[in-house]
Amino acid sequence: MQDYHEFMDEVLVDEQTIARRVAELGEQISRDYADKDLLIVCLLRGAITFTADLTRRLTIVPELDCMSLSSYGVGHYASSGNVRVNLDLRTNIEGRHVLLVEDIVDSGRTLAHVLEMLRTRNPASLRVCVLLDKKERREVPVQVDYVGFDVPDKYVFGYGIDIDERYRHLPFIASVDLSKYKRPE
Ligand code: PRP
Repeated sequence: MQDYHEFMDEVLVDEQTIARRVAELGEQISRDYADKDLLIVCLLRGAITFTADLTRRLTIVPELDCMSLSSYGVGHYASSGNVRVNLDLRTNIEGRHVLLVEDIVDSGRTLAHVLEMLRTRNPASLRVCVLLDKKERREVPVQVDYVGFDVPDKYVFGYGIDIDERYRHLPFIASVDLSKYKRPE
C-alpha cells in the first residue's frame, strides 16, 4: 500500500485543530440539547471517527445509532446521487430529537436523500452536524446546522474519510495530489 506521504498535497486540518473544533461543537450541541433526549445518528463509514470524538465531548447523555448508505453509479471520487441504504437504524425515531453526524457534505445529494427519508419517520426534530463542508460543490441545497470546517474543492482523506477505502485511520485531514496517487490493484 502506498505511503500517504507520496501523494499528499497538503494537510488541510491538523489533529490539534480538529480536536479544538470538535470540543467546541460538543459544547454547543450539549447546550442546544440540554433539556432534550438526543439521538445521534452516525452515517457510516466516513463519520465513525468524528462521531466517536464528538460524543466524547458531550456533557449530555445521548443515545447513539448508525446508518450505512452508499452512493453508486458514476464516479470514483464524487457522489453520484444514487443512494442505497445498506444498514438502517435500529431505533424508531418517531418523536425523537435526531442529530445526524456526517463527515463531509459535497454535492449534498447523500444528505438530502437521508434527510428526506428520515423526515417521513416523523422525528420531533432533525438536525445535521458535518465535520467538513465543501460548499463550492453543492448541487442540492441542504441545511447544515453545525459545521466543523469549510474546505476547498479538493479530494480529501483522513480522519474517517477514505481514498479507495484506505487512509481513514489518519488523525488529520489532507488533500490528495491525484497525479501521484496510485489506485490499489
Ligand atoms: C461520502 C461522504 C458523504 C458523501 C458526501 O460518502 O461520507 O456521505 O460522500 O457526498 P455528497 O454530498 O456529494 O453526497 P461515501 O459514499 O464515500 O461513503 P463512506 O462514508 O462510507 O466513505
